[in-house]
Amino acid sequence: MNIDQPLALLGGITPRHFMRHYWQRKPLLIRQAIPGFKPSLSIANIKQLVKREEVESRLIWRDESGWNMKTGPFKRLPAAGKPNWSLLAQSVDLHDDATAALMRRFRFISDARLDDAMISIATDGGGVGPHFDSYDVFLLQAHGQRRWRISQQKDLTLEPGLPLKILQNFQAEEEFLLEPGDMLYLPPHAAHDGVAVGDCMTISIGFRAPTQATLACGMLEAANDQILANLGDTGGLYANPVIPGPSLSATFKDAGVAATATPAALPDSLVEAAVKAIAKIRYDKTLAARFLGQWLTDIPPNAYFEPSSEDLDLSAGLPVSGKLALDRCSRLMYRDRELFINGEVAAIPASPRLRLLADERELACASQAAARLKEEERRVLTEWLQEGWLHYIPD
Ligand code: SIN
Ligand code: CO
Repeated sequence: MNIDQPLALLGGITPRHFMRHYWQRKPLLIRQAIPGFKPSLSIANIKQLVKREEVESRLIWRDESGWNMKTGPFKRLPAAGKPNWSLLAQSVDLHDDATAALMRRFRFISDARLDDAMISIATDGGGVGPHFDSYDVFLLQAHGQRRWRISQQKDLTLEPGLPLKILQNFQAEEEFLLEPGDMLYLPPHAAHDGVAVGDCMTISIGFRAPTQATLACGMLEAANDQILANLGDTGGLYANPVIPGPSLSATFKDAGVAATATPAALPDSLVEAAVKAIAKIRYDKTLAARFLGQWLTDIPPNAYFEPSSEDLDLSAGLPVSGKLALDRCSRLMYRDRELFINGEVAAIPASPRLRLLADERELACASQAAARLKEEERRVLTEWLQEGWLHYIPD
């Protein structure tokens, strides 16, 4: 994507400008971000979708008793004519190609940050109440109208004891009525309240940001995996060391230690040995890249792959036309020479042609990059076709 090209999606500013001036900083209302937008899924389709076990969903409604929430799957829903309810389907990009393609129009932001596309449908008056989110979000009006009230207020105290996050003192500062194709960008912690005006559908392109605790725990787990993998050579848990890193197979020795009259006391030598052992682990960028590459490409348990071209063997060469395209659920990322796919470190290095496949999510069979694919790469791509991670799409 050319990040210096003005985008209608961003109201005529460039991705570079948006990232510098708005991202994580301030709201942006974009009228007709997608002119003439028609959602790929209808309200009826969403009602069908939330019947499925693998689709995460929530029903939210307000009545005399206050706010209520129920999690799906839903066999039955409130009657369409009943006002004040809203139904939210999470990660619809995993289940619908067109929604995945819509989400990927926002790839001027790293895949590492892009999370999912949630679709909400609501009847008149429906919404999830005034709240704030911890992450950035683009709220695209897909069908009908929604009235958004927003505020940059500092008071983010929540109502206690409710099944959902509702702000105690929401003070709207601005108000917009969104029509189909309009979009509202909100940075983290911006207070907002969206209320359906008649039947309404809103698509939220959501982002994720790990906490320091998540990053630190991930590093510790990666270090743990590294240690276990490298125990292989001493008859430990794994037969083959697979992750580069220090060997920690030496056992504690205390030849010459004095006899003790206080056997319950913890020996200093053992305490020191533990500190020395952990100091051998390098919490460096290599370890971080391995953890992040695997973690960020990890596929959610409700993603599922259906091979469409499993009989195609690319090892002898690619078809003369058509393209190879990643499945909507596939996650492919790279850093330096390492390539990560769907939670695994790929068996081949991240060559320029595979980086291109990762960035573009497809590779034309007749392209120069495709012509440069090595046999080993074509063999691995064949495996991805068999897994359903990649598909061959004829012209
Ligand atoms: C909605 O679509 O109703 C909720 C989206 C949000 O407020 O984050
Ligand atoms: Co929100």
